[in-house]
Amino acid sequence: MVDGLRLAVSTQGDPNAPTILLVHGYPDSSRIWDDVAAQLVDRFHVVRYDVRGCGDSDAPADKADYRLDQLAGDLAAVVRAVSRDRPVHLVAHDWGSIQAWHAVTDPEYAELFASYTSISGPCLDHIAAWMRGQLRRGRLRPVLRQLVHSWYIGFFQLPVLPELSWRLPLLRRKLHANARDARNGIQLYRVNMLGTLRERGQRRTTVPVQQIALTRDAYVTPALLPAAQPWCASLWRRELPFRHWAPREHPGVIAEFVTEFVEHIGGAPASRGLRGARIDRPSRHFAGKLVLITGAGSGIGRATALAFAEQGADILAVDIDQDSATATATTARQYVVDAHAFVADVSDHAGMQALAAKVRAEHGVPDIVMANAGIGMSGPFLATEEADWQRIIGVNLLGVVHTLRAFAPLLVERDQGGQLVVTASAAAFLPWPTLAAYSTTKAAVFSLAQSLRTELAEHGIGVSAICPGIVATNITATTRFVGQDAQAQHRSQERTTALYKRRRFGPEKVADEVLRAVRDNRAVVPVTPEAHVAWFGSRVSPGIVRAVGRWVRPPE
Ligand SMILES: NC(=O)c1ccc[n+]([C@@H]2O[C@H](COP(=O)([O-])OP(=O)(O)OC[C@H]3O[C@@H](n4cnc5c(N)ncnc54)[C@H](O)[C@@H]3O)[C@@H](O)[C@H]2O)c1
Repeated sequence: MVDGLRLAVSTQGDPNAPTILLVHGYPDSSRIWDDVAAQLVDRFHVVRYDVRGCGDSDAPADKADYRLDQLAGDLAAVVRAVSRDRPVHLVAHDWGSIQAWHAVTDPEYAELFASYTSISGPCLDHIAAWMRGQLRRGRLRPVLRQLVHSWYIGFFQLPVLPELSWRLPLLRRKLHANARDARNGIQLYRVNMLGTLRERGQRRTTVPVQQIALTRDAYVTPALLPAAQPWCASLWRRELPFRHWAPREHPGVIAEFVTEFVEHIGGAPASRGLRGARIDRPSRHFAGKLVLITGAGSGIGRATALAFAEQGADILAVDIDQDSATATATTARQYVVDAHAFVADVSDHAGMQALAAKVRAEHGVPDIVMANAGIGMSGPFLATEEADWQRIIGVNLLGVVHTLRAFAPLLVERDQGGQLVVTASAAAFLPWPTLAAYSTTKAAVFSLAQSLRTELAEHGIGVSAICPGIVATNITATTRFVGQDAQAQHRSQERTTALYKRRRFGPEKVADEVLRAVRDNRAVVPVTPEAHVAWFGSRVSPGIVRAVGRWVRPPE
């Protein structure tokens, strides 16, 4: 009983294990945590309750009694009832998260909490301070953008209409809401929003906080999350490419993030993801990410592996050539990251499946997989032989297919999003004499990347096709020139290598674009100026691009 109200509290698991307290939002009840709780209960004492006015808890008679001070008081009373001697780990979503912020930033309650995981619900005083700061600096746009996302807050201030809208069964079904909970919860908006935003609260906390940023949340945008930074003594932020109701829609990964955080606060070493998530220290952009790259022993693959390592990612360098893969991993470690070399032939389906199983067992699921290994082939189509086609399709097309088929299911199963990158080529959309075989494979993987992007979007997995253009790497020294004897072939390789060198466009610049593409989830990434021109031309005037292909001949 709190304030004369009976709150419905349920407990699961061993009471001697660390306690996790789950607080629900609006218009939910503690049922939203059903699947998360089921995954936590083996290791923790899991407690949840229905917030006043919701589920099986009583509703206050006075509609004004939904103030944050009262809600935080309820929360503290539940902690004192279920865990008298030890602080609890708080996990809260939506309005639950707003009231949990109110509790952890109240000096009277702070010692009740060992940690706090906040999902999609900011501290209203932090937001008020953030908005004032933006406006002081003349930055109107981010404030307006958030206000547009917060339209419903204005709607809930209207009389009668919000109550009427909850009579619609369709709306209640869509939001899994019960009519009484939805009606009562409107008071949260009416008694808390405007008043709090006017106040100038200084709400600091020493409780370690983990924010789970849902990047597709239409109500609480991730842009708001940094508002908490000035007020937290220690803060972690982890992203998930999901929408607002992630606790219901993706319970596995929410339980996993909570477990990792709680165990780390309890003294366990930080998981890879958590290491990169600490944001109250200067951090590198890909810290805590695991990146796997095929063809990482040379050229674009090697440069990209080192660029990711420089930005803090752990590296798995895969190549058919053991020495060069090892050299890449060794150099990557100079950036103080974990890096390992693997030998694999991407054209070998079974070998790639075995690689994926080994990687998963030894290092976990990569966050970013770049199917990059490839070979060159030049010469007239009429001079190509069956074996030439088997070889180039085996490496450049099936190699990408085998890589993606081995790793994409792991990313989907893990349910934390991620990025797949395919190294295609400007040759995918630029018809060029003597490159028929090479272009065919690159057009195929380009198309594969586009299709896969649409297929995997619902899992929060992005797919990018990199189309470099002419880049000085070792590829020209190993390219097969069909229809030539060994001597002529050697001369062609030397001539093309010299030409590519004169172009002065190194693989490091491609690597920079790959990192940008992953950060922004770009679909098609032309890199060199000629690749940009070819991509643009192929869209606005394919006829001109075909004509250019007829006029200009690459050296043989
Ligand atoms: N360099 C360019 O101008 C250019 C332009 C467009 C696209 N690309 C593409 O970029 C990718 C990387 O090429 P690069 O220029 O860095 O060449 P590179 O020759 O320097 O590097 C390719 C790497 O792939 C490895 N490899 C080759 N076959 C393999 C196999 N079967 N299994 C595993 N590893 C294998 C090689 O050992 C080498 O380390 C290729 O897909 C290539 O087609 C290159």
